[in-house]
Amino acid sequence: MPDQYGVIGNPVAHSKSPQIHAEFARQTGQDLTYERLFAPTDAFMEVASAFRARGGRGLNVTLPFKGEAFRFASLLSERARAAQAVNTLKFEGNAIFGDNTDGAGLVNDLARNLGCAVTKRRVLLLGAGGAARGVIKPLLEQQPARLVLASRTLDQAQLLSRNFGDDLETGTYSALAGEQFDLVVNATSASLAGELPPLPPGVFAPGALAYDMMYGRDETPFLAFARGEGAAALADGLGMLVEQAAESFFIWRGVRPDTAPVLTLLRQARV
Ligand code: ATR
Repeated sequence: MPDQYGVIGNPVAHSKSPQIHAEFARQTGQDLTYERLFAPTDAFMEVASAFRARGGRGLNVTLPFKGEAFRFASLLSERARAAQAVNTLKFEGNAIFGDNTDGAGLVNDLARNLGCAVTKRRVLLLGAGGAARGVIKPLLEQQPARLVLASRTLDQAQLLSRNFGDDLETGTYSALAGEQFDLVVNATSASLAGELPPLPPGVFAPGALAYDMMYGRDETPFLAFARGEGAAALADGLGMLVEQAAESFFIWRGVRPDTAPVLTLLRQARV
Protein backbone atom coordinates (compact mmCIF):
# COMPACT_ATOMS: atom_id res chain seq x y z
CA MET A 1 0.00 0.00 0.00
CA PRO A 2 1.39 3.47 -0.87
CA ASP A 3 2.32 5.84 1.96
CA GLN A 4 -0.49 8.22 2.85
CA TYR A 5 -0.18 11.99 3.12
CA GLY A 6 -2.67 14.82 3.11
CA VAL A 7 -3.53 18.43 3.78
CA ILE A 8 -5.77 19.32 6.71
CA GLY A 9 -7.66 22.61 6.85
CA ASN A 10 -10.96 24.41 6.99
CA PRO A 11 -11.80 25.19 4.26
CA VAL A 12 -9.64 22.79 2.26
CA ALA A 13 -11.68 22.06 -0.87
CA HIS A 14 -9.76 24.57 -3.00
CA SER A 15 -6.28 23.58 -1.81
CA LYS A 16 -3.82 23.07 -4.64
CA SER A 17 -1.58 20.90 -2.46
CA PRO A 18 -2.95 17.53 -3.71
CA GLN A 19 -2.16 18.50 -7.30
CA ILE A 20 1.30 19.81 -6.36
CA HIS A 21 2.27 16.69 -4.38
CA ALA A 22 0.88 14.38 -7.05
CA GLU A 23 3.17 16.11 -9.56
CA PHE A 24 6.15 15.86 -7.20
CA ALA A 25 5.46 12.13 -6.65
CA ARG A 26 5.14 11.49 -10.37
CA GLN A 27 8.32 13.41 -11.11
CA THR A 28 10.41 11.65 -8.43
CA GLY A 29 8.82 8.20 -8.82
CA GLN A 30 7.57 8.10 -5.23
CA ASP A 31 4.63 5.82 -4.44
CA LEU A 32 2.25 7.82 -2.28
CA THR A 33 -1.28 9.14 -1.94
CA TYR A 34 -2.19 12.69 -0.93
CA GLU A 35 -5.71 13.63 0.13
CA ARG A 36 -7.69 16.59 1.43
CA LEU A 37 -8.84 16.35 5.06
CA PHE A 38 -11.56 18.71 6.19
CA ALA A 39 -11.71 19.25 9.95
CA PRO A 40 -14.41 21.13 11.85
CA THR A 41 -12.77 24.09 13.60
CA ASP A 42 -12.95 22.35 16.99
CA ALA A 43 -11.79 18.92 15.76
CA PHE A 44 -8.26 19.30 14.40
CA MET A 45 -6.73 16.84 16.90
CA GLU A 46 -9.43 14.24 16.28
CA VAL A 47 -9.13 14.32 12.50
CA ALA A 48 -5.32 14.41 12.52
CA SER A 49 -5.13 11.58 15.09
CA ALA A 50 -7.56 9.41 13.11
CA PHE A 51 -5.47 9.92 9.96
CA ARG A 52 -2.33 8.94 11.87
CA ALA A 53 -4.10 5.91 13.41
CA ARG A 54 -4.95 4.57 9.97
CA GLY A 55 -1.30 4.68 8.97
CA GLY A 56 -0.93 8.26 7.67
CA ARG A 57 2.72 9.30 7.36
CA GLY A 58 2.43 13.06 7.24
CA LEU A 59 0.21 16.11 6.91
CA ASN A 60 0.38 19.60 5.58
CA VAL A 61 -1.53 21.95 7.83
CA THR A 62 -3.29 25.02 6.55
CA LEU A 63 -5.60 27.66 8.03
CA PRO A 64 -6.79 27.83 10.74
CA PHE A 65 -4.85 24.97 12.34
CA LYS A 66 -1.16 25.91 12.24
CA GLY A 67 -1.18 26.87 15.94
CA GLU A 68 -2.93 23.67 16.96
CA ALA A 69 -0.52 21.61 14.89
CA PHE A 70 2.29 23.33 16.81
CA ARG A 71 0.76 22.04 20.06
CA PHE A 72 0.03 18.61 18.57
CA ALA A 73 3.69 17.96 17.67
CA SER A 74 5.89 16.08 20.15
CA LEU A 75 9.13 17.22 18.48
CA LEU A 76 9.62 20.64 16.89
CA SER A 77 12.16 22.02 14.44
CA GLU A 78 13.88 25.25 15.36
CA ARG A 79 12.06 27.12 12.61
CA ALA A 80 8.68 25.79 13.80
CA ARG A 81 9.51 26.95 17.31
CA ALA A 82 10.46 30.41 16.02
CA ALA A 83 7.23 30.64 14.04
CA GLN A 84 5.14 29.10 16.83
CA ALA A 85 3.26 27.48 13.99
CA VAL A 86 3.49 24.16 12.16
CA ASN A 87 2.56 23.56 8.53
CA THR A 88 4.19 20.13 8.16
CA LEU A 89 3.68 17.08 10.38
CA LYS A 90 5.61 13.85 10.00
CA PHE A 91 4.48 10.73 11.82
CA GLU A 92 7.24 8.30 12.71
CA GLY A 93 6.64 5.59 15.29
CA ASN A 94 5.49 7.34 18.46
CA ALA A 95 6.87 10.70 17.40
CA ILE A 96 4.95 13.55 15.84
CA PHE A 97 7.52 15.80 14.22
CA GLY A 98 6.40 19.39 13.53
CA ASP A 99 8.14 21.71 11.09
CA ASN A 100 7.37 24.96 9.31
CA THR A 101 8.35 25.27 5.65
CA ASP A 102 6.54 28.55 4.88
CA GLY A 103 9.59 30.74 5.41
CA ALA A 104 11.83 28.49 3.34
CA GLY A 105 9.09 28.56 0.71
CA LEU A 106 9.21 32.35 0.54
CA VAL A 107 13.00 32.59 0.56
CA ASN A 108 13.32 29.88 -2.11
CA ASP A 109 10.67 31.47 -4.30
CA LEU A 110 12.49 34.81 -4.08
CA ALA A 111 15.88 33.27 -4.84
CA ARG A 112 15.01 30.58 -7.39
CA ASN A 113 11.94 31.80 -9.24
CA LEU A 114 12.16 35.57 -8.91
CA GLY A 115 15.93 36.17 -8.85
CA CYS A 116 15.49 38.45 -5.85
CA ALA A 117 18.25 38.49 -3.24
CA VAL A 118 17.34 39.32 0.35
CA THR A 119 20.94 39.69 1.54
CA LYS A 120 21.87 43.37 2.09
CA ARG A 121 18.45 44.51 0.86
CA ARG A 122 15.98 46.65 2.79
CA VAL A 123 12.97 44.43 3.51
CA LEU A 124 9.54 45.51 4.72
CA LEU A 125 7.15 42.87 6.06
CA LEU A 126 3.49 43.83 6.44
CA GLY A 127 1.41 42.19 9.18
CA ALA A 128 2.06 40.60 12.55
CA GLY A 129 -0.04 37.43 12.35
CA GLY A 130 0.88 33.81 11.77
CA ALA A 131 1.89 34.34 8.16
CA ALA A 132 4.40 37.04 9.10
CA ARG A 133 5.70 35.08 12.10
CA GLY A 134 6.52 32.10 9.88
CA VAL A 135 8.90 34.03 7.64
CA ILE A 136 10.79 36.34 10.05
CA LYS A 137 13.55 33.89 11.01
CA PRO A 138 14.23 32.62 7.47
CA LEU A 139 14.33 36.23 6.20
CA LEU A 140 16.74 37.28 8.99
CA GLU A 141 18.98 34.31 8.16
CA GLN A 142 19.48 35.87 4.72
CA GLN A 143 21.01 38.90 6.47
CA PRO A 144 19.03 41.74 4.95
CA ALA A 145 20.30 45.31 5.43
CA ARG A 146 17.22 45.73 7.64
CA LEU A 147 13.95 43.95 8.30
CA VAL A 148 11.07 46.21 9.30
CA LEU A 149 7.70 44.77 10.33
CA ALA A 150 4.69 47.07 10.08
CA SER A 151 1.41 46.42 11.84
CA ARG A 152 -1.76 48.35 12.64
CA THR A 153 -1.55 47.10 16.21
CA LEU A 154 1.80 47.73 17.81
CA ASP A 155 1.45 45.39 20.79
CA GLN A 156 1.50 42.24 18.64
CA ALA A 157 4.45 43.55 16.64
CA GLN A 158 6.36 44.45 19.79
CA LEU A 159 5.80 40.95 21.15
CA LEU A 160 7.44 39.63 18.00
CA SER A 161 10.39 41.97 18.28
CA ARG A 162 10.94 40.65 21.80
CA ASN A 163 11.23 37.13 20.34
CA PHE A 164 13.53 38.06 17.49
CA GLY A 165 15.73 40.68 19.16
CA ASP A 166 17.20 43.85 17.69
CA ASP A 167 17.47 42.47 14.16
CA LEU A 168 13.74 42.93 13.70
CA GLU A 169 12.47 46.53 13.70
CA THR A 170 8.77 47.03 14.33
CA GLY A 171 6.53 50.01 13.81
CA THR A 172 3.27 51.43 12.59
CA TYR A 173 2.36 52.07 8.96
CA SER A 174 2.48 55.83 9.41
CA ALA A 175 6.08 55.56 10.68
CA LEU A 176 7.04 54.26 7.22
CA ALA A 177 6.56 57.68 5.61
CA GLY A 178 9.85 58.75 4.02
CA GLU A 179 11.36 55.24 4.19
CA GLN A 180 12.22 53.11 1.14
CA PHE A 181 12.51 49.35 0.70
CA ASP A 182 13.84 47.01 -1.98
CA LEU A 183 11.41 44.22 -1.08
CA VAL A 184 7.92 44.66 0.39
CA VAL A 185 6.17 41.46 1.46
CA ASN A 186 2.46 41.53 2.27
CA ALA A 187 1.83 38.93 5.00
CA THR A 188 -1.46 40.47 6.15
CA SER A 189 -4.84 38.92 5.44
CA ALA A 190 -5.98 42.25 3.93
CA SER A 191 -6.05 40.87 0.37
CA LEU A 192 -8.54 38.18 1.44
CA ALA A 193 -11.00 40.95 2.29
CA GLY A 194 -10.12 42.95 -0.83
CA GLU A 195 -8.40 45.53 1.37
CA LEU A 196 -5.12 47.38 1.17
CA PRO A 197 -2.76 47.74 4.17
CA PRO A 198 -2.48 51.47 5.00
CA LEU A 199 0.92 52.04 3.36
CA PRO A 200 2.08 55.61 2.87
CA PRO A 201 3.17 56.48 -0.67
CA GLY A 202 6.84 56.25 -1.63
CA VAL A 203 7.94 53.06 0.18
CA PHE A 204 9.01 51.24 -2.99
CA ALA A 205 12.66 51.98 -3.78
CA PRO A 206 13.68 52.09 -7.45
CA GLY A 207 13.84 48.44 -8.62
CA ALA A 208 11.70 47.21 -5.72
CA LEU A 209 9.82 43.91 -5.73
CA ALA A 210 6.31 43.83 -4.28
CA TYR A 211 5.34 40.36 -3.03
CA ASP A 212 1.87 39.32 -1.89
CA MET A 213 1.64 35.97 -0.08
CA MET A 214 -1.92 35.65 -1.41
CA TYR A 215 -2.58 34.30 -4.87
CA GLY A 216 -5.62 34.08 -7.07
CA ARG A 217 -7.00 34.94 -10.43
CA ASP A 218 -7.14 38.68 -9.81
CA GLU A 219 -4.42 41.12 -8.85
CA THR A 220 -4.66 41.93 -5.14
CA PRO A 221 -5.21 45.54 -3.97
CA PHE A 222 -1.65 45.50 -2.60
CA LEU A 223 -0.13 44.53 -5.94
CA ALA A 224 -2.32 47.05 -7.75
CA PHE A 225 -1.13 49.74 -5.34
CA ALA A 226 2.50 48.66 -5.82
CA ARG A 227 2.09 48.84 -9.59
CA GLY A 228 0.70 52.38 -9.30
CA GLU A 229 3.60 53.31 -7.01
CA GLY A 230 6.12 52.20 -9.62
CA ALA A 231 7.33 48.92 -8.08
CA ALA A 232 9.65 47.30 -10.64
CA ALA A 233 8.32 43.76 -10.16
CA LEU A 234 5.20 42.16 -8.74
CA ALA A 235 4.78 38.61 -7.43
CA ASP A 236 1.92 36.65 -5.89
CA GLY A 237 2.23 33.76 -3.42
CA LEU A 238 1.83 30.86 -5.84
CA GLY A 239 5.59 30.31 -6.00
CA MET A 240 5.78 30.28 -2.20
CA LEU A 241 3.03 27.66 -2.13
CA VAL A 242 4.92 25.37 -4.49
CA GLU A 243 8.27 25.93 -2.73
CA GLN A 244 6.88 25.25 0.77
CA ALA A 245 5.32 22.07 -0.62
CA ALA A 246 8.68 20.99 -2.05
CA GLU A 247 10.31 21.52 1.34
CA SER A 248 7.59 19.40 3.01
CA PHE A 249 8.03 16.71 0.36
CA PHE A 250 11.75 16.66 1.14
CA ILE A 251 11.08 16.28 4.87
CA TRP A 252 8.79 13.31 4.20
CA ARG A 253 10.59 11.56 1.35
CA GLY A 254 14.21 12.78 1.45
CA VAL A 255 13.98 13.75 -2.23
CA ARG A 256 13.89 17.31 -3.57
CA PRO A 257 11.43 17.74 -6.45
CA ASP A 258 11.93 20.21 -9.28
CA THR A 259 9.50 23.06 -8.59
CA ALA A 260 9.75 25.07 -11.83
CA PRO A 261 7.63 22.76 -14.05
CA VAL A 262 4.97 22.44 -11.34
CA LEU A 263 4.75 26.22 -10.97
CA THR A 264 4.44 26.56 -14.74
CA LEU A 265 1.67 23.97 -14.77
CA LEU A 266 -0.31 25.78 -12.05
CA ARG A 267 0.08 29.15 -13.79
CA GLN A 268 -1.13 27.64 -17.07
CA ALA A 269 -4.13 26.05 -15.35
CA ARG A 270 -5.32 29.46 -14.17
CA VAL A 271 -5.67 31.11 -17.56
P1 ATR B 1 -2.52 34.94 9.58
O1 ATR B 1 -2.33 33.87 10.62
O2 ATR B 1 -3.05 34.44 8.28
O3 ATR B 1 -1.35 35.84 9.42
P2 ATR B 1 -3.87 36.67 11.45
O4 ATR B 1 -3.10 36.10 12.58
O5 ATR B 1 -5.32 36.94 11.58
O6 ATR B 1 -3.74 35.79 10.13
O7 ATR B 1 -3.11 37.99 11.05
C1 ATR B 1 -3.56 38.77 10.05
C2 ATR B 1 -2.67 40.00 9.93
O8 ATR B 1 -3.21 40.77 8.87
C3 ATR B 1 -2.64 40.87 11.16
O9 ATR B 1 -1.34 41.42 11.29
C4 ATR B 1 -3.63 41.97 10.79
O10 ATR B 1 -3.31 43.21 11.29
P3 ATR B 1 -3.72 43.75 12.75
O11 ATR B 1 -2.92 42.91 13.69
O12 ATR B 1 -3.27 45.15 12.67
O13 ATR B 1 -5.20 43.56 12.85
C5 ATR B 1 -3.42 42.08 9.32
N1 ATR B 1 -4.53 42.69 8.60
C6 ATR B 1 -5.74 42.20 8.34
N2 ATR B 1 -6.47 43.06 7.60
C7 ATR B 1 -5.68 44.12 7.38
C8 ATR B 1 -5.81 45.37 6.69
N3 ATR B 1 -6.95 45.68 6.05
N4 ATR B 1 -4.77 46.22 6.69
C9 ATR B 1 -3.63 45.91 7.33
N5 ATR B 1 -3.43 44.77 8.00
C10 ATR B 1 -4.43 43.90 8.03
